[in-house]
Amino acid sequence: MSLSNTHSNVCQCSSNYNNTDSCYVNLRFAGSNMAMSWVGFGSFYLLLAGLIIGALRSCNGGISSSSYSRSSGISDDMPLNSDVFALPPGYNSPQQVHITQGDNEGRGVIVSWVTPNEPGSIVTYKYYNYSSPYIHHCTIKNLEYNTKCFYEVGTGDATRRFWFTTPPEVGPDVPYTFGLIGDLGQTFDSNRTLTHYESNPIKGQTVLFVGDLSYADKYPLHDKNRWDTWGRFVERNVAYQPWIWNARNHEIDFLPEYGEGEPFKPYTHRYFVPYEASGTTSPLWYSIKRASAYIIVLSSYSAYGKSTPQYKWLMKELPKVNRSKTPWLIVVMHCPLYSTYVHRYMEGETMRVMYEQYFVQYKVDVVFAGHVHAYERTVNPQPKYSAFREPSYGHATFEIKNRNTAYYAWHRNQDGYSVEADSVWFHNLYWKSSSVASI
Ligand SMILES: [Fe+2]
Repeated sequence: MSLSNTHSNVCQCSSNYNNTDSCYVNLRFAGSNMAMSWVGFGSFYLLLAGLIIGALRSCNGGISSSSYSRSSGISDDMPLNSDVFALPPGYNSPQQVHITQGDNEGRGVIVSWVTPNEPGSIVTYKYYNYSSPYIHHCTIKNLEYNTKCFYEVGTGDATRRFWFTTPPEVGPDVPYTFGLIGDLGQTFDSNRTLTHYESNPIKGQTVLFVGDLSYADKYPLHDKNRWDTWGRFVERNVAYQPWIWNARNHEIDFLPEYGEGEPFKPYTHRYFVPYEASGTTSPLWYSIKRASAYIIVLSSYSAYGKSTPQYKWLMKELPKVNRSKTPWLIVVMHCPLYSTYVHRYMEGETMRVMYEQYFVQYKVDVVFAGHVHAYERTVNPQPKYSAFREPSYGHATFEIKNRNTAYYAWHRNQDGYSVEADSVWFHNLYWKSSSVASI
């Protein structure tokens, strides 16, 4: 294994290893709530979903939960003195530690953190009357697969140690479990969602984050201190397993009347993604491989018409996917292509018109989206296409068993950690026609 930096503003890394099963990486440096909807595409999926839904309930329109209605009050942001926002002790102690995949195949990790006092090799930005703390990004490359790695960030007496487990080598029948969280924010409900995800007996190994992180923009002048509190809030999970980022409407932070005309400025400075590895020109859309999945992150809030970089990249990307190597083709976006809720109704329609045909053509297995702040699973193209609908907060898991089958479950917050409100088995669209899945 070797360590290197892909970003010009990252710092020096060194490493040592205990043995081949685990490695110790020591980095020393100079210095809303869940909402997700789910859309399955294609006639193959329609058949599968129809069979499953038929087993659950004999009707055309799926299920709208009658047993749950959300309380009328909107959960407030947790106060600034909440324990989840606490600063770690020590001078210049690193905080807001987070990791994400750092290459295309899963052998790289980007480690990021913030220090308040000493700069080192860093990224900073100003946003109106806010100056960011010192933001550090370091890309570790060529890690061993399936290995627990320990890492330490910071300097002097204020170093902090964390760990993560690298994924198995990319392959067609590699089991792997993704957690699904989005529209998280930093309210009391946000804390419940993250706590439920952490205590779920189905252990997610990597989070596919479907957009809307801190909701700092709902404060006057987009109070960027709320980016810092959010970073400290989620550190307890994202320092230990990668979150695959997807930035969306609450990350735009567009305030030209106050001189802030660069969209996504706080997000792109704080959250690095390995977009160069998949040949894109923007961190807002990219792809990675992880275990048996090929994950394409799309930007609902960037141009996606036929002459745009995002469209041209996707047209080259979809034919590249080798389903013999990565059977599960997953698309992550923010704005759902289908939703029966009034809130945000049809906001994803133009993107659906543009891209759905290609998702069908290339047998995309599942599209994960957020934005609506309520749960829904849909099948297509039933006129009454809502398969399960409920205005609940929670999280989901997507367990890949092998190239044929995967198990998806929605865990709403109000049931207790182990109760699934909705679940469905997937048969891989590409492999379904050539092999029989066993469940
Ligand atoms: Fe949103």
